[in-house]
This record gives sequence, C-alpha cells and structure tokens, in this order.
Amino acid sequence: MSSQSQTKLFSQYHLGQIHLEHRLVMPPLTRLRSNPDDSPSDMMVTHYGQRASKGGLIIIEAATVSKKGIGYQGMPGIYEDRHIAGFERIADAIHAKGGFAFAQIIHTGRTSHVDLQPNGESPLAPSATSYHGHAFLNGEFVPVSPAREITVAEILEVVEDFRQAALRARLAGLDGVEIHSANGYLLDQFLQDGSNHRTDAYGGSIENRARFLLEVAKAVVSVWGPGRVGVRIGPSGTFNEMSDSNPEALFGYVAEQLNGLDLAYLHVIEPRVAGDVTRENAEADEVVASKFLRGIYKGTLLAAGGFNRESAEEILRSGDADLVAIGRLFTSNPDLPERLKNGYPLNDYDRSAFWGGTERSYTDFLPYQAEAAVTEAELVTV
Ligand SMILES: Cc1cc2nc3c(=O)[nH]c(=O)nc-3n(C[C@H](O)[C@H](O)[C@H](O)COP(=O)(O)O)c2cc1C
Repeated sequence: MSSQSQTKLFSQYHLGQIHLEHRLVMPPLTRLRSNPDDSPSDMMVTHYGQRASKGGLIIIEAATVSKKGIGYQGMPGIYEDRHIAGFERIADAIHAKGGFAFAQIIHTGRTSHVDLQPNGESPLAPSATSYHGHAFLNGEFVPVSPAREITVAEILEVVEDFRQAALRARLAGLDGVEIHSANGYLLDQFLQDGSNHRTDAYGGSIENRARFLLEVAKAVVSVWGPGRVGVRIGPSGTFNEMSDSNPEALFGYVAEQLNGLDLAYLHVIEPRVAGDVTRENAEADEVVASKFLRGIYKGTLLAAGGFNRESAEEILRSGDADLVAIGRLFTSNPDLPERLKNGYPLNDYDRSAFWGGTERSYTDFLPYQAEAAVTEAELVTV
C-alpha cells in the first residue's frame, strides 16, 4: 500500500448530502476585505477560488446576519438580498474546482463599536457587563463600546435574521451554512455564564442559556433541511473574555440537544487556541474537547485548533473526529491539501495581513508547483 492510501486525512467522507474527497477543511477566516457596502469583493472571490480543491470543503468567513451584528469593519454581510450575488460568485469559484462551500453566519453581539452600529446605538449583549474586547474600525482594532442588554423581542428578531441569512446563502447556491456559536460572539455570549447574567428564559440554567442557540439552529435547519447545517462551538475557549463555571455540563448539554437536529456536523475548536492565537506550546496539548464530545454527539465531528498534518492524522485515526480544519496555514498555502498530501514545504503565514488590506499576502500566495516554476525561471535568468 502506498503511504497515501493509508492516510485518513486524504480518504473520502460522506458529509450529510455531500461527498468529500478528503477530510481537510478550510475553517472560517475573517480577512476584512469586503466592499464598503459589506458585499463580498472581487479579491475575496479570487481568494476562495484559489483555495478550493476537488471534493474539499471551505467554510467561508463569518458573514453578519444583521447590521447590528457587525463587530469588524470589512466583514461581509448577508443581511440584505443585495449580498446574495457576491456569495454566488464565491460559490461559483469554489464549485468550478469541484469544491464545496458553506457560509458561516454570525452576530458579534457585544464585540462591536457604536460607530459600526445603526444610528450609533450601543452593541447588543445578553447582559450589560463590562468587557475589554476589540472591534475593528478604520483599519485598526479599537476597544469595544459598552453594550446594552438585548430584549426578548430583539432575541426573536435575531433568530429571524439568522433564518433569513440562511435563506440568502441557499439562494446564492452555497452547499450549506455554519452557525457561529464560538469565540465569544453573541450566541456564545449567551451560552457561557461569564457573560450571561440574565434572569429570564434565556439566562440562569444551562437549558435557558442554550435556548437562543437552539432556536437559531432550528430556524436555520428549517431553511436547509437535514445534513446542510453546521454549528461551531468553542468549549473552554477564552478568546473575547469567555468563561463558564461548568463547561463540560454546558457543552455536553448543547451537543446532546443538537443530536436531534440532523446537522451536517458539529465544529469543535480545541481550547489550545484562543480565537486566532495558539497558546504557548499548545500544539503539544492533548485534544480534549473533541474527545469529550465524541461520547455525546452522534453525528459528524469537525475538529479545529492547532492541527498539523501529523496531529490531524492522529485525531482521525483515534476516532475522536471525522474531519479536521486547519486555518492559519490555509491563508498562506492556497493548495494546502496538495501540499500536505505530497509533503511539499509550507509557506509561513503573514499575520500582519490577516485583517484588512489589499491583495498582498491575500491572493498572491502561489500553489507549490507554480512557486517551484517561478524559482526555476529565476535561476535560469541569473
Ligand atoms: C485571521 C483569522 C480569522 C479568523 N476568523 C474566524 C471566523 O470568521 N470565524 C471563526 O469561527 N473562526 C475564525 N478564526 C479562527 C479559525 O477558524 C481557527 O479556529 C483558528 O485559526 C485555529 O485554527 P488553526 O490553528 O488551524 O489556525 C479566525 C482565525 C484567524 C487566524
């Protein structure tokens, strides 16, 4: 047997309604390069097309479900019908290479700034607690504005916003959507008791704190049907000042409840990464969240957070996950599946170009073969 036929990472997988040729997924990576009207830009279409692979899944970066859900200027919107065309172009670029595309949908909640909000209003949060996070405005990260407690009527509006965003994603010809309930954005803010101090039906008990996410998930599944919706969670993630007094009980309950929804997958971020930063020496940390949830969640588990080729193989072999997402390396290696499959060298990522900017370090990374050809041509000229 060749080494390739022994790999789990490059083996096929039936994901809901989709047939994947390999198990390496590009996770959502917000790059803040949308057009000023929040529609996806031409360079985004190019960027995603470059990263598509035959039978590979790309989860497009977080798109906001409403104007109030924007925490970072430059993130795409999916809150009006005029946004559909841009997502259609991204879907086409990914499909043209035989890939599949899900859109991640988000409300950033308290992670925002009054200057990003309609009429300069305060950002929305489960509770008006003080929080020292950062929004992105005029090309830089700035401290968030104090948030105000969202009302129950507004919660129901957000559920409807998610439903309509899911519908737009469907009209754009995407293959599914992922609900962002991780990394300290609105749905995660409700889940965890460090940020949710409510005393109504959406706060207090675990059942109450999970209510919002489950209502959103049901609304989105009502649009897409079985096997087309993913949910992303980050148990014990600390990014955006998240904390919970009993994460095992909380996320165990969430996973158990999601069993009933016939999702495409549950996407789990291992706590060894906090948002976009790996904790020191964390690559060596054991995967804990996927292992724990594997015992509870009955469907497909997609694991993310600090994986490389070896640890991706390892978690797939151990059976603790079915699919693995590798994020930062996808920014600088558009052909990451090919590179990992063939053992080609990897480009380092350019953190200075992660958020906002131009084509530089965005669409100018080449596939390995093209890179090698350029180097050869340079050698010939010398
Ligand atoms: C530039 C950048 C943008 C990100 N944007 C998102 C996002 O839009 N939605 C999300 O759920 N996670 C986002 N993340 C987190 C990644 O999806 C992923 O979980 C994280 O990078 C850890 O995986 P890695 O160690 O393979 O990079 C982002 C991370 C980075 C570095």
